[in-house]
Amino acid sequence: MQKKEISYERNGVLKCLRLFITITLMATTLLTHAQCMRVHYNDGWTEQIDVTTVDSITFDENGQHLAPTIMLNNGLRMPAFGIGTYSLHGETCFNSVYTALKNGYRLIDTAYMYGNEEEVGRAVRQAVSDGICKREDVTVITKIYPGTQFANPEQAIQERIDRLNIGYVDIMLLHHPGDNDVKAYRAMEKQVEAGGIHSLGISCFYIDELKRFLPQVSIKPVLVQNEIHPYYQDTEVVDYIHSQGIVVQAWYPLGGRGYQTELLSDPVLKRIAEAHGKSLVQVILRWHYQRRVVAIPGSSNPAHIAENIDIFDFQLTDEEMADIVALNRNEKHDWY
Ligand SMILES: NC(=O)c1ccc[n+]([C@@H]2O[C@H](COP(=O)([O-])OP(=O)(O)OC[C@H]3O[C@@H](n4cnc5c(N)ncnc54)[C@H](OP(=O)(O)O)[C@@H]3O)[C@@H](O)[C@H]2O)c1
Repeated sequence: MQKKEISYERNGVLKCLRLFITITLMATTLLTHAQCMRVHYNDGWTEQIDVTTVDSITFDENGQHLAPTIMLNNGLRMPAFGIGTYSLHGETCFNSVYTALKNGYRLIDTAYMYGNEEEVGRAVRQAVSDGICKREDVTVITKIYPGTQFANPEQAIQERIDRLNIGYVDIMLLHHPGDNDVKAYRAMEKQVEAGGIHSLGISCFYIDELKRFLPQVSIKPVLVQNEIHPYYQDTEVVDYIHSQGIVVQAWYPLGGRGYQTELLSDPVLKRIAEAHGKSLVQVILRWHYQRRVVAIPGSSNPAHIAENIDIFDFQLTDEEMADIVALNRNEKHDWY
């Protein structure tokens, strides 16, 4: 009897506890939903990118910390952070991409021009066969180049698919505007219909180029990849691209190899980094992310690769964002 009473008491406590947990969960869901609503942009950047709060950290089934994903204007999703592979070749490139995948990266940028598509594809295949990731969770971007490739785009496109050898190309870009760019893009559109490419994008297109180009194509680019860093913020162009429902991706997000001495020792960035117990580079990458720009920093250093994706557990304040905006010098680090 005594035992039963205790058990009833326990049941009561358990019920209260369960009710408390349920109410807390419901409140959290509602709150999260409310925050999501505030950042549900109509430009391709969806609820998973919540710039108003510290992001919930997501993990895959291997326990890897993943970057949040964004929905593209064609309904497919892409990670909001990735790795670039410009100037990486051979085993250096393979190791960078494989290490990145091991560290939770799921977005990789390459190009015909980088001469490393074979290594990138090999690293993705190896990571898939090692159980690090699934092919369908990885977004691989490559690009075709003006000149002979734009003049004979079908062959150039097929070569990219074959060189990567990962079944399909997630996103293929025109590397630059140039003669025959519309013709080349239309050939990529045909390959989307055929299933060899899932999404299309363009690179080094600014407002005048976009105004000329966009009305001439049928499939809207999902992203534009341009030079962007704290010393070259290009806000007008970023806002224009967002207004077209297109994601902006930053090349040279850390200023670019060979142009980093000043940026990576900037006193304002240093002060903000110290305030958060983060590195200066993490502050730059977090700034891109909070600005709704997808950064793809290049690195062949495993410690840097791990450091760069570790930006989803802190948040820059409005004042800190404004301090970084004030660093803009319109200082382009490359010609295109
Ligand atoms: N579409 C285009 O026309 C275009 C043009 C240029 C680039 N891109 C793409 O954009 C990507 C990014 O550009 P990028 O690689 O040239 O320049 P970046 O990302 O601005 O800078 C890369 C440099 O930063 C260093 N770095 C990376 N993480 C670091 C860290 N945590 N601490 C200190 N240094 C760090 C790297 O050195 P370590 O190797 O030592 O880490 C490397 O020297 C390219 O890889 C490419 O995929 C596209």
